[in-house]
Amino acid sequence: MKIAFFSTKPYDKIWFEPMGKDYGFDIRFYEVPFNSDTIYLAKNYDAICVFVNDYITAEMIEALYEMKVKAILLRSAGFNHVDIKAAEDKIIVLRVPSYSPEAVAEFAIGMILTVNRYIHKAYNRTRDFNMSLNGLMGVDLYHKTAGIIGTGKIGQAMIRICNGFGMTVLAYDPYPNNKLEVDYVELPELFEKSDVISLHCPLTSGTKHVINKNSIEMMKDGVYLVNTSRGGLIDTDALIEGLIQGKFGGVGLDVYEEEEGIFYEDRSNEIMQDENLARLMTFPNVLITSHMGFFTKEAMQAIAIETLENAYALENGLPLVNRTEIR
Ligand SMILES: NC(=O)c1ccc[n+]([C@@H]2O[C@H](COP(=O)([O-])OP(=O)(O)OC[C@H]3O[C@@H](n4cnc5c(N)ncnc54)[C@H](O)[C@@H]3O)[C@@H](O)[C@H]2O)c1
Repeated sequence: MKIAFFSTKPYDKIWFEPMGKDYGFDIRFYEVPFNSDTIYLAKNYDAICVFVNDYITAEMIEALYEMKVKAILLRSAGFNHVDIKAAEDKIIVLRVPSYSPEAVAEFAIGMILTVNRYIHKAYNRTRDFNMSLNGLMGVDLYHKTAGIIGTGKIGQAMIRICNGFGMTVLAYDPYPNNKLEVDYVELPELFEKSDVISLHCPLTSGTKHVINKNSIEMMKDGVYLVNTSRGGLIDTDALIEGLIQGKFGGVGLDVYEEEEGIFYEDRSNEIMQDENLARLMTFPNVLITSHMGFFTKEAMQAIAIETLENAYALENGLPLVNRTEIR
C-alpha cells in the first residue's frame, strides 16, 4: 500500500518510519499540511494519513475519490475535521479511537494544577530569583467538586484521577455508563455545582459551544475550566467576556477554536493576527498549550501501531473495526 503522510513532524517518523517498513508499506512523508493547495500530492497513493488540523471537506473527498485514493487514515481519535457524511460511499475513513486515554487525562489534571497553583508563574519567578509568593495562592482540590462532560475513555481516566484527589465527581453524558462510580447529572446542575469543569466529549453539532454565555453564567464564581478535547466546544468570545468579568479561577486550554495553521507551528517571529488568541494570552490565570494532551511516548507508539493496523486490515480485507461512524 502506498500512503501519503501529511503534517509530518520529526516525532511522527520515530515510530511510523520503521514500523511502516515492517508492514511493507510505501510511506511518503510530507511536512506540509493536507489542504486544497497540497491535495495534488495524494495522486497515485492508496491512502492519505492526516492529523487533527488537516481539514477534509466534501470537495476534497470528491477530489480524492477521483484520484482513486481509497482511504483516509486519521492519526487521531477525534474526526470532526473530516466530512464523514461526504466520505460515506466514497472513501473509507479509519481512526485511532483509543491510544492512551491516560495521556490526555493526566495532561488535563496537570493543566488544572498549573493554573490553580500558578506553577507556570512560579517557575518563571524563581528563575529570576523572585521568591515572592504574592499572587500565587491557589485552592485545595480535595473535597471540591469536579464536573466531567463526556465519560468515554478519557473522561473515565479523568474520573479515576479526580477520585484519587478526594474530589466529588459529577458527570454528564447523553449515553451514561452505568458501570462507572459517578453521579450523572444534567448539564445545568453540573455547571452550577462544579468547582472544576473538564471537557471530554467530541466536537459535534450538538456539542459545539457547549461552553457559552449562558453556561458560563450558571457556573460558580472562581470555577476552573479545562478543555483538552476540541476548541469548538467553547465559545471563545463568551470565555473572554467571562475572564474579563473575573468569573474564572483559572482556564486551561490545550485546544482552541481557531488553532488550525497556528498550533504545531513556530510563529514566534510573526505578528499574531488572531486577536482572541492574543487576548487569551494576556490573562494571568489562562494556560494555553498547543494541542499536546496526547503527546507521550506510549500514545505516539500506540497511534503508529493502530494506524498501520488499520491500513493492514484494509489491504487484507479484514474487518475495519476503527471505521468512523456518526451515532
Ligand atoms: N488534546 C488531545 O491531544 C486529545 C487527544 C485525544 C482525544 N482528544 C479529544 O478528546 C475527546 C474524547 O476522547 P475519548 O477517547 O474519551 O472519546 P470517547 O468516544 O471514548 O468518549 C466520548 C464521550 O463523549 C460522549 N458524548 C457524546 N456527545 C456528548 C454530549 N453532547 N455531551 C457530553 N458527552 C457527549 C460520548 O457518549 C462518549 O461517552 C475526543 O473526541 C477528542 O476530541 C484530545
